[in-house]
Amino acid sequence: MRKHFTMIIFGGTGDLSQKKLLPTLYFLFSEGDFSDDFSIVGIGTTKYTNEEYAEMVKGAIKKNLPEKFDENKCTNFLRHVTYRSGDLRQEDIYKELCTHINGTYASKKNEPNVIYYLATIPDLVGPIVEHLNAKQLCVEKINSKIIVEKPFGNDKASAAKLNDLILKSFTEKQIYRIDHYLGKDTVQNLTFFRFGNSIFEPLWNRNYVDHVQITVAEDIGIEKRGPFYEQAGVIRDIIQNHMLQLIALVGMEPPANLASDAVRDEKWTLLKAIRPMDDENIRKFTVLGQYGPGKINGEPVCGYREEERVDKRSVVPTYFAGKFFIDNWRWSEVPFYVRAGKRMAGRASEVRVQFRQPPLKLFEKRASALPNELILNIQPSEEIDLSINVKTPGIEGYLKSTMLKFNYEKEFNTKQYPPYARLLIDCIMGDTMLFARQDAIETMWSIVDPIINFWDKTPRPDFPNYDAGTWGPKEADALMERDGRKWHEL
Ligand code: BG6
Repeated sequence: MRKHFTMIIFGGTGDLSQKKLLPTLYFLFSEGDFSDDFSIVGIGTTKYTNEEYAEMVKGAIKKNLPEKFDENKCTNFLRHVTYRSGDLRQEDIYKELCTHINGTYASKKNEPNVIYYLATIPDLVGPIVEHLNAKQLCVEKINSKIIVEKPFGNDKASAAKLNDLILKSFTEKQIYRIDHYLGKDTVQNLTFFRFGNSIFEPLWNRNYVDHVQITVAEDIGIEKRGPFYEQAGVIRDIIQNHMLQLIALVGMEPPANLASDAVRDEKWTLLKAIRPMDDENIRKFTVLGQYGPGKINGEPVCGYREEERVDKRSVVPTYFAGKFFIDNWRWSEVPFYVRAGKRMAGRASEVRVQFRQPPLKLFEKRASALPNELILNIQPSEEIDLSINVKTPGIEGYLKSTMLKFNYEKEFNTKQYPPYARLLIDCIMGDTMLFARQDAIETMWSIVDPIINFWDKTPRPDFPNYDAGTWGPKEADALMERDGRKWHEL
């Protein structure tokens, strides 16, 4: 990829910029993915000179991408980076941006390609887009794009409001709403694997699939993000976006092609078919949890309520389990069980498609067979496993369950490509396929809003209800057991 671009990072000194964005831009540069002709402008309120900012960026790269740090490459990268300080609510900074952008494209040497990355608090999105608009910095003729980080709104109404505000200045195809799960190779592979093999697709439906289990388990806690998490909780943080995107990719119909809107149309269609839950079903089919103190890797860790800047009586959930149904021809009455949590006993994101048990009468007592299961591991293991049943050696021979395995790293001798890098490249190139579309975002909110509202008004005296370092509350096991099923032991 050697396309010219100018990237303006609002919030250029913040946490996201230091941890993810700037190291990822450096990563792409060091891999030779940028032309020589690009510029990055960090914007923040801290009064840095260009040199001081460059030092900060270097420190962020060293700290967050130590394995890729190279003094010479970093010096070359920093030649493309400048900094402006100012108040994002005031006009002055935008005048400076105008000068920078017009100056960059004055010679007409390059096709304009201007990207605004909003790595700021959500409150600043309004003032930023209004000022960009007033200065004619949003127009398509400078090929401008805007990247917006999640959370995209706090519920359906606020997401729609935020969107209206951005749409006053940008068109839908200029808007890139990041969900970094979509940038993971193993998540993209859900589409490649499903539609690139003829043997699974005929089975991928209610006739052969017993149920689907999706897990997004993390062993980390909330990591100094107390104020954010107190307002978000696990449903807004993971279920509304990453989890529902995974369900959409597992469940959607084959798109006509891999064009951005062909894929996003199919995902949206699937999301619209997720059965809405009334209060009774929410009580029956969803479980919330919050971690108390416990141990992770043998080390004691505090409970959620003892985390920095968290209310000592907080009832914010850090764990969610639920059962969803998709009311369409393919998935009618096939349960999709999902669970996500912080401070679990381990880190694992995976999709399990469990097929129906074949009749085993033939083998009678000689069968210790399990139903076939296809396991699409997303992380940390990057693997696809298929459980099959085979004969054990010997005269008698039993039917026994075993695994066929494919491992990314072994096969391709490389780890998966960093998701942020993939998404930034796509934005620079103008491909929106791996970004969330507004219609899907609003549909995802309409799925989770009733669940959040129900639990907000339902007392939870049992919190905390799971110890850090375990697999969540026992009610989550009961949710499966009532259906005669079990969560996979991770
Ligand atoms: C983010 C959430 O979107 O995803 C975090 O805000 C979470 O709470 C993170 O830890 C998980 O991402 P990953 O790529 O580590 O699974």
